[in-house]
Amino acid sequence: MSAPSDGRRPPRVLLLAYSYTGQTRALLDAAGDVFAERGWEVESAPIVPEDPRIARRFGTFPMRRVWPDMLSVLPAQARRATCAVTVPESVVGGDYDLVCLGSPTWWSAASMPMRSFLKSDDARKLLAGNNFAVFIACRGRWRGNLAEITKLGRWQGGRYAGEYHATYPGNEVTSMLSLTSYLGSGEYREKYLGVTLPPTNVSAAQLDEARGFAESLADSLVGRDG
Ligand SMILES: Cc1cc2nc3c(=O)[nH]c(=O)nc-3n(C[C@H](O)[C@H](O)[C@H](O)COP(=O)(O)O)c2cc1C
Repeated sequence: MSAPSDGRRPPRVLLLAYSYTGQTRALLDAAGDVFAERGWEVESAPIVPEDPRIARRFGTFPMRRVWPDMLSVLPAQARRATCAVTVPESVVGGDYDLVCLGSPTWWSAASMPMRSFLKSDDARKLLAGNNFAVFIACRGRWRGNLAEITKLGRWQGGRYAGEYHATYPGNEVTSMLSLTSYLGSGEYREKYLGVTLPPTNVSAAQLDEARGFAESLADSLVGRDG
């Protein structure tokens, strides 16, 4: 679809994520394809952790020492701590009709980089009076993450427009083993520590669901012709 012919600017969406292995980013990109097909202007930007402790452990993939690296943020997550983050200056002053926020779950809460961004002045500039939607990727614990993001987004003056979350198969133990095997090796293994592993990470079906969610967001925000 092309831009509106009546002189109005096309609607604009910002896809803003913190994503360590690219799962949350993949959900946002799938949604972005739908917005673009419908004539929206789509911009993507990362939330970049600047804190050396986070940057060192989460700046490389696979993780160097998966269990110590994952556990390193547990105390800070329990305190809902923040760290230094940046987002590109070009997007902070942008005029968007919708901001899609993507974050993995870290220890049952929003990831520290997303929390840190949401508490910043930049978040107020982007969200005040604006619509925001939430995209989450995790093994299973999405509720606390969503609650934290929606609470902070609203506190910054944003209007919550909905959410999509992708969770991974398996129980607490098997999904954790599958994830840590992947985070520590960068590969998908069928067995780890003698246990048969369920798949981890976002599936093709979940990318389709994220596209469906984007369709419904576009319909509700600017109507079927926008
Ligand atoms: C430090 C850390 C803590 C995590 N804690 C949880 C958790 O409490 N519950 C859960 O369901 N998934 C948890 N996960 C899994 C992530 O949500 C999952 O790896 C997700 O795919 C990451 O998405 P990303 O690639 O966009 O960062 C955790 C992952 C990391 C790295």
